[in-house]
Amino acid sequence: MAEPILEVSGLYKHYPLTQGVVLKKQIGAVKAVDGVDFTLDRGETLGIVGESGCGKSTVAKMLVNLEKPTAGSIKYRGEDVTKLSGRALKAVRRNIQMVFQDPYTSLNPRMTVGDIIGEPYDIHPEVAPKGDRRRRVQDLLDVVGLNPEYINRYPHQFSGGQRQRIGIARGLALRPEVIVADEPVSALDVSVQAQVINLMDRLQNEFDLSYVFIAHDLSIVRHISDRVGVMYLGRIVEIGRDAEIYDHPTHPYTQALLSAVPVPDPEAREQRERIILAGDVPSPTNIPSGCRFRTRCWKAQERCALEVPPLAVPPHLRLLTGPAVHDSACLFAEEKQAVPVGEAPDDHGEGSP
Ligand SMILES: Nc1ncnc2c1ncn2[C@@H]1O[C@H](COP(=O)(O)OP(=O)(O)OP(=O)(O)O)[C@@H](O)[C@H]1O
Ligand code: SF4
Ligand SMILES: [Mg+2]
Repeated sequence: MAEPILEVSGLYKHYPLTQGVVLKKQIGAVKAVDGVDFTLDRGETLGIVGESGCGKSTVAKMLVNLEKPTAGSIKYRGEDVTKLSGRALKAVRRNIQMVFQDPYTSLNPRMTVGDIIGEPYDIHPEVAPKGDRRRRVQDLLDVVGLNPEYINRYPHQFSGGQRQRIGIARGLALRPEVIVADEPVSALDVSVQAQVINLMDRLQNEFDLSYVFIAHDLSIVRHISDRVGVMYLGRIVEIGRDAEIYDHPTHPYTQALLSAVPVPDPEAREQRERIILAGDVPSPTNIPSGCRFRTRCWKAQERCALEVPPLAVPPHLRLLTGPAVHDSACLFAEEKQAVPVGEAPDDHGEGSP
C-alpha cells in the first residue's frame, strides 16, 4: 500500500491588491493558488506542469514554508505543517527541502561551495557537529558527482550544470525525505538537463526521496514523474499516472498543452492536430465563474459558466475502466486521440557537464 508523505488539501494563496498609500484599502486579490489538492506518496515523483503564472512556484513555496497559505492544509506524515510553529515546525522543515530554478542566482557568489552546502547545518547543528561538517560537505560533493577538492571554490568557477549539482547537494545536506524542485533544469542546456535529471533519479533511490518536480516542459516532467498534475490559473485541472495524462488526457487544457509539444517523428507530427487556444490566460485577479478554463475552451457550453467541475473522476466516466478514467476537472471530459510525447533525452549518461 502506498503511504502518503504529503497530503495537500484546499490550498489557497491570495495576495491582497490594495489601493492608496496611507489607508491601504483592499480592492481585490491575486489568486495565485486557488484550491489545490494532491497527495505525494513515499518514494514517488509528482510532476506539476502548467504555463507561466499558473501558481506552480507559489505552491512550491508553501510546501517548504517560504509562504504562508491563505487557507488549506499541508500534512507531512499526517501532521498539518501549517499549524506548527517553533521547534516542531523547524523539525518538519528539515525534512522538506527545495531546489531552486536558477543556479546562477540562487547561490551566493561570495560564499565558497563548502559554506553554501554546509549552510543548512548552521540552522540545524544537531545534524552535523562542527568538527564533522567539512567531511560531510565533501561527501555531498562526491554524491552529486563533483570533486570533493572543489570545496573552497566559488560558484563562478563552475558551469551551470555543476552549479545545479551544488544546489542539489545543499538540498540534501539535512537528509530530507521530500525535495521540492522548482524548475530545476529549466535554465540549463538540453544535454546538461538530462544529466541533472539522471542524477536526481539516482539520488531518489539512494536516499529514498520523494519529489515534487515542477516544470513547464512536458517531456522532462514525463521522464522523471510517476504521476503528473496539470495546473491552470491556480488549480490542478487534471492529475493521474504519467501514461494516463500523456497518452489518455481527458481535460481540454491538457490536450491543448500536449498538442503543442514538439514531436521528433515527422509522421506522428503530421498526424496530430494542433489545438490553438483562443485568447490569453485570464488575470488571476479575475478568475472566470464556473470552469476557470471556459474562456479558452473550444468545448465550452452554458453549463461551464455555472458549475465548478471538481477534480475527480467525472461521473460519466465512472462506470468505465482504463487509463482515461482518472481525475479531470471537466464537465465534458473525454479522451481525444493520444498525442505522442517523446521522452527527454536520457542517453547521455550522468557524467559531469
Ligand atoms: N508576492 C506576490 N504578490 C502578488 N502576486 C504574486 C506574488 N507572487 C506571485 N504572484 C502572482 O501569482 C501568480 C502565480 O505566480 P507563480 O510564480 O506561482 O507562477 P509560476 O507558475 O511559478 O510561473 P512561472 O512558470 O513563470 O515560474 C502570478 O500571477 C504572479 O504574478
Ligand atoms: S468544463 Fe466546460 S469549459 Fe471547462 S474544460 Fe470542460 S468543456 Fe471546457
Ligand atoms: Mg515559477
